[in-house]
Amino acid sequence: MALAAQDLLPDNIAPCSPQLFGRIAGDLREKGYSINPCALPPGLADGLLQHLHTMSAQQFAPAAIGREQDQVINGFVRKDNICWITGESAAGCQWLEWTHKLQVFLNRELFLGLFSFESHFAHYPPGGFYRRHLDAFRGESNRILSVVAYLNPYWQADDGGELVLYPEPDCPRGITVAPALGTLAVFLSEEVEHEVLATRRDRFSVAGWFRVNSSTAERADPPT
Ligand code: OGA
Ligand code: MN
Repeated sequence: MALAAQDLLPDNIAPCSPQLFGRIAGDLREKGYSINPCALPPGLADGLLQHLHTMSAQQFAPAAIGREQDQVINGFVRKDNICWITGESAAGCQWLEWTHKLQVFLNRELFLGLFSFESHFAHYPPGGFYRRHLDAFRGESNRILSVVAYLNPYWQADDGGELVLYPEPDCPRGITVAPALGTLAVFLSEEVEHEVLATRRDRFSVAGWFRVNSSTAERADPPT
């Protein structure tokens, strides 16, 4: 019988992080976003980073904008490459396990009804950016909560590549987040505009979205 990558994980590798999850829930309730430096469990951050080193450039495809059939690649809006996480690697499984724990916790605390999760690795090469955008438009998408985890050791102030959140439409300067290893940003997908400033170094992250169930009589929403 073939072993799933998940069966190979030591028990202690994806801890629950109850304090962190509690802080995220409180921040989301209060202000719609939560920024947490050094938040990823070290085993998880290292596992994802090591997995990245084993991936080849061919596994990353230029990211598109828009939904499904309407997707287009637009180098004026975003310039990054992505690779979806499907749970085939041990590190990918570990990430999905940990985000599932976050999902269960937030559903219990905030009654968000989060139902499924999708995520990808992203690579912004030097000069890469993503212009100011929302991850979802109200009523048009079922993306509710965005999560970004950064995988860049020794990030320096002049490396650029910051995430800037604009939680209030009239807060022009925004909230700036350096994409340093272990930092976790969580924000409401339909409410918080954000952008990625041009990076001067290769910049790696995992971005993910929790969705609510949008099944209809005609189409079942896959629970992944
Ligand atoms: C995205 C995004 C932010 C980041 O992928 O939609 O906004 O900091 N990413 O990588
Ligand atoms: Mn985004």
